[in-house]
Amino acid sequence: MLKTIFSTCLFFSVVIARHEQYEGYALYEVTITNEEQAKLIKQLENQIPVDVWTHLVPGNTGQILVPKDQRKEFQNELSAIGIEYKIETDNIREQLLLEDELLAAASKNRNGFSSRIGLSFDTIHNYSVVDQYLVDLASQYPETVTVVSGGRSFEGRDIKYLKISTTNFEDRSKPIVYLESLIHAREWITLPATLYAIERLVIDVTEQDLLEDIDWIILPILNPDGYEFTHTENRFWRKNRATNYTDGDSCLGVDLNRNFGIFWGEASSVNVCSETFHGLGPFSESETSVVQNILAEYGSRIEIFFDIHSHGSLILYGYGLGALPPNALVINYVGVTMAHAIDNVKWDSNKDYTVGNVYYVLYAASGIASDYALGIGIPLSYTYELPSYRGSSGLNGFLVDPEFIEQAGFETWEGLKVGARYVRDLDKRRHRH
Ligand SMILES: *[C@@H]1O[C@H](CO)[C@@H](O)[C@H](O)[C@H]1NC(C)=O
Ligand SMILES: *[C@@H]1O[C@H](CO)[C@@H](O)[C@H](O)[C@H]1NC(C)=O
Ligand SMILES: [Zn+2]
Repeated sequence: MLKTIFSTCLFFSVVIARHEQYEGYALYEVTITNEEQAKLIKQLENQIPVDVWTHLVPGNTGQILVPKDQRKEFQNELSAIGIEYKIETDNIREQLLLEDELLAAASKNRNGFSSRIGLSFDTIHNYSVVDQYLVDLASQYPETVTVVSGGRSFEGRDIKYLKISTTNFEDRSKPIVYLESLIHAREWITLPATLYAIERLVIDVTEQDLLEDIDWIILPILNPDGYEFTHTENRFWRKNRATNYTDGDSCLGVDLNRNFGIFWGEASSVNVCSETFHGLGPFSESETSVVQNILAEYGSRIEIFFDIHSHGSLILYGYGLGALPPNALVINYVGVTMAHAIDNVKWDSNKDYTVGNVYYVLYAASGIASDYALGIGIPLSYTYELPSYRGSSGLNGFLVDPEFIEQAGFETWEGLKVGARYVRDLDKRRHRH
């Protein structure tokens, strides 16, 4: 009994402390109408320590998370420059606790029993579960699956990826499709997208042609340290956890999607405290080096590269500084085709996908993964931004409503399939000639 009381108290103290750092933070939906306002809001972002969840472009609404003690100033500034806003969530911590509750309840409903092989799509699995899953799959499906340790994260976690092939990657006439997720730690909904692809290619094969005609490289957790940190400490952490950059304050971490060796440093931050801090140099981080090495080994056969992010319902392509690659028309065409396939099956509550160049749709960005792939000659390369679901629970943005997990995997797969079949068919045509 004593033990029960003790652990009950412990339980409550843990619950009370959870997400405490976000007490009173509010999520704003902000709408701007012209470029002038876009410039003003950018200045404001540098002036007040806010967290921009979705970027503001004229004619569209964006989400900005504002610390409790900055709210007044933030609202005053917006009003002063005539920008409209709506408070979407008054206290984001309540939403964080709700997310915990819903995800825990969803996995409890399974009653610990699952007749299916593989990971369920009712909750968001943590690093160690996914890591073990990749190993198990390789031992259960040795004919098609190989697990590879690509390297280690800053804190020493293994960054594993799967090679999926009916010919053990030895048939060099097959195109390779590359797929990765969780380069940004807090973008949890991207994990079911890669896990769903694995499920369809290995466990429950519904698209035999995609398995037979294509070799796949799938890397579900590129930023394991950051990802683990979002489960244990700070749900909205984005960067890796590298600590060897000190400027006298307590900031740390590199934005891995600004650390790749293309246009490095041109549209990212030198400030360690920034969410887009680009690191000490191109590929200074072990996590991005893993991708660099994979591309060095297989790049000549990779025909399409996917980097999955959230959120905003976007399919983006390079280059991040606005220049278009010579085959931009084809890239755009395949992008639109993929977007249509997703829109056809998406939930009505989410908006249609937008397709376009990163710079024109969002902002200038340098050192990004999909640009690097394009730059080394991979013909098609995309950043997906998955939808921000607003369902019955009201959870949206980076927060995951378990209702949406399987759907996110399913609908994203519809898009990925279209891209994969495009390169497969192109490849067949090439061999015929
Ligand atoms: C990961 O999740 C599993 C299953 O819910 C749990 O048993 C394990 O303790 C978690 N691992 C960490 C490091 O939190
Ligand atoms: C950062 O620290 C890691 C691990 O201690 C080390 O391997 C790496 O070289 C360091 N990087 C830089 C840029 O100092
Ligand atoms: Zn991202």
